[in-house]
Amino acid sequence: MSHSYNEIDETPLPTGELALQTVAMPHSTNSQGDIYAGWLLSQMDIAGSTVAQEYAHGRVTTVAVGSMAFLRPVPVGSQVRCYVELLEIGRSSIKTRVEVWLKQVSSNELMKVTEGEFVYVAIDENGRTRSIKD
Ligand SMILES: CC(C)(COP(=O)(O)OP(=O)(O)OC[C@H]1O[C@@H](n2cnc3c(N)ncnc32)[C@H](O)[C@@H]1OP(=O)(O)O)[C@@H](O)C(=O)NCCC(=O)NCCS
Repeated sequence: MSHSYNEIDETPLPTGELALQTVAMPHSTNSQGDIYAGWLLSQMDIAGSTVAQEYAHGRVTTVAVGSMAFLRPVPVGSQVRCYVELLEIGRSSIKTRVEVWLKQVSSNELMKVTEGEFVYVAIDENGRTRSIKD
């Protein structure tokens, strides 16, 4: 990850394209009623893979996820937005940065929750790596 834990919340605006927008629903809560991190990670992976698939013109799989820190809780009912930026393109790999922001319905304010690097690999129908440029 290119930002330190302290820098992450100081980015004033999202970076990258808006790849996914959803609402945090009660069925994504843990036994205490809080949205659990696994749900957010799943949304991030869906967002990143959507952009990677488009770039790779086909199937991709997630090969690596970087370390992440969560800066604030995600209340039920929040509008959750995932922004994706392409960082590096290799022979078969696509490194992305996925940022998660909450949108306050009342004020339209955006607040960053987390960001992480997700790396995808283009694969063929047999699950073997393929060159993105083929
Ligand atoms: C992804 C997978 C096909 C890669 O196979 P592989 O034999 O390791 O392939 P390679 O070693 O040739 O690596 C392929 C690319 O991934 C990159 N890569 C591999 N491991 C990586 C890692 N830990 N971090 C970042 N990139 C990585 C390589 O650098 C290479 O990039 P390049 O082609 O752009 O140079 C294989 O590891 C796999 O199927 N993993 C499971 C994926 C999966 O199921 N994900 C969902 C889990 S629920």
